[in-house]
Amino acid sequence: MKHALNRKLLLRTIAPGILILLSIIGLISCVSIDRVVVVPPEIPGAHFVGSKNCEECHGNITKDFRTATHSRLMAKGENAANVGCETCHGAGSTHSEAGGGRVNIINPGRSPEVCFQCHLEMRGKFNLPHHHPVTEGKISCVDCHNPHKGDAIKGGPFALTSQVDTCGACHIAQRGPFVFEHEAVREGCTTCHDPHGTVNDRMLLQRNQNLCLKCHFQQQLASGKIFIGGRDHTGSLGRGTCWSAGCHEAVHGSHIGSSLRF
Ligand code: HEC
Ligand code: HEC
Ligand code: HEC
Ligand code: HEC
Ligand code: HEC
Ligand code: HEC
Ligand code: HEC
Repeated sequence: MKHALNRKLLLRTIAPGILILLSIIGLISCVSIDRVVVVPPEIPGAHFVGSKNCEECHGNITKDFRTATHSRLMAKGENAANVGCETCHGAGSTHSEAGGGRVNIINPGRSPEVCFQCHLEMRGKFNLPHHHPVTEGKISCVDCHNPHKGDAIKGGPFALTSQVDTCGACHIAQRGPFVFEHEAVREGCTTCHDPHGTVNDRMLLQRNQNLCLKCHFQQQLASGKIFIGGRDHTGSLGRGTCWSAGCHEAVHGSHIGSSLRF
């Protein structure tokens, strides 16, 4: 992702020396620091006023913003020092002068266009045949991402809640708890799904048994036979995917048996 951003959007990392310094600070604050220069969306007739200006009326959001992943961004040009809010909302002078309101400012909660402007590869993913209905307006990037506070990825490595909680808020059936858990789910739903979109049904990362064999691979000792999980699967693999054909349909976990059949 970072390469695409660098190349196509004139995003440039600043001097390596500063990066080293920042990565030291990063270790202390437990967040990876990676400053880039960005070009925020434009609002006709408006200029940048800086996040301090927003604070006056949006104190709650501004207060916690320094903990947000995106607060590390810097814009090019005069107000480069502090345009954090305006990287997503656009230049704010006309909005502020009008005393706020729902005009002269972009709200990316209603359309992901602004996000796509920087995250080019995401536009591509949300165009794939199987994707979360974000561009259709049914859910939004902020159902899974925090724009204003903390780790941008809800359930990410530094978050208090897990990814299973984030996804499970809407997908109760897959969340569990189950009597017989599948350990793979504990590692996160993205072990098997790309929530932005894929070419495969159910947004799966792979469409066939390779999805499962990346963990359930074992060295084959008897020639002409395929063993998985210590059991002879020679006749099974031709019948369909591991999760169809009546084999391991309860791939997220089961209340009935450890083989995750139902
Ligand atoms: C990473 C992009 C991003 C940045 C940076 C950002 N915002 Fe937002 N902002 C959003 C999104 C997305 C929404 C929609 C949230 C929703 O629908 O829940 C939003 C919504 C808002 C709203 C509408 C009220 C609300 O909470 O729904 C205000 C006001 C706001 N932001 C102010 C700010 C201020 C002030 C800053 C800087 C301190 C800031 N934003 C920085 C993306 C961003
Ligand atoms: C003079 C006060 C004031 C200032 C300064 C101000 N805002 Fe607002 N803003 C408001 C008011 C009032 C609303 C309307 C709130 C509502 O409708 O709930 C608003 C709404 C918003 C919204 C939501 C718009 C929508 O369509 O839902 C965003 C985003 C926003 N402001 C961002 C910013 C940013 C970024 C800055 C700084 C560049 C800023 N505001 C500066 C008063 C202000
Ligand atoms: C002006 C460009 C820009 C805009 C607009 C923008 N982002 Fe980002 N975003 C970045 C950059 C650059 C990074 C990398 C920051 C870093 O690694 O520290 C990033 C990081 C992220 C990450 C975290 C990636 C990680 O690995 O931790 C997520 C998630 C994200 N953005 C989502 C969004 C969403 C959702 C929106 C729209 C509400 C949005 N971004 C708007 C530039 C932008
Ligand atoms: C259904 C939940 C969900 C939605 C909706 C969603 N994301 Fe994500 N996103 C995630 C998860 C989970 C990750 C972490 C991926 C991982 O750990 O492999 C992520 C990671 C990212 C990253 C970091 C790069 C990467 O691929 O790991 C970016 C950038 C990002 N998302 C942008 C967006 C944007 C922009 C939108 C809206 C257009 C969006 N996301 C909508 C769940 C979602
Ligand atoms: C805000 C609610 C919400 C959240 C959070 C959410 N999803 Fe979804 N998910 C949806 C909706 C809506 C659909 C589309 C359902 C449809 O089209 O019938 C969907 C569809 C899916 C599908 C495809 C189902 C199918 O029938 O093809 C998968 C897989 C999925 N989500 C996984 C995830 C994962 C993994 C996460 C967490 C990273 C997540 N979801 C977070 C709302 C959500
Ligand atoms: C070990 C791989 C794996 C993991 C981990 C995983 N899934 Fe799945 N998921 C699958 C497979 C395979 C299917 C397709 C099942 C089918 O078509 O019968 C699926 C289907 C789904 C569906 C569609 C269900 C339906 O009946 O249409 C949703 C929603 C879903 N998963 C959400 C999640 C969520 C949320 C998580 C994390 C809590 C998760 N998945 C973790 C492999 C996985
Ligand atoms: C991230 C790694 C990972 C992935 C991917 C994965 N699994 Fe697992 N699975 C495990 C672990 C770990 C266990 C528990 C230890 C064991 O039994 O090997 C397990 C256990 C199982 C079991 C129970 C075995 C028993 O009899 O107790 C079945 C069945 C299973 N997985 C099927 C699948 C299927 C089907 C897929 C593909 C949709 C899949 N797994 C993908 C890691 C994974």
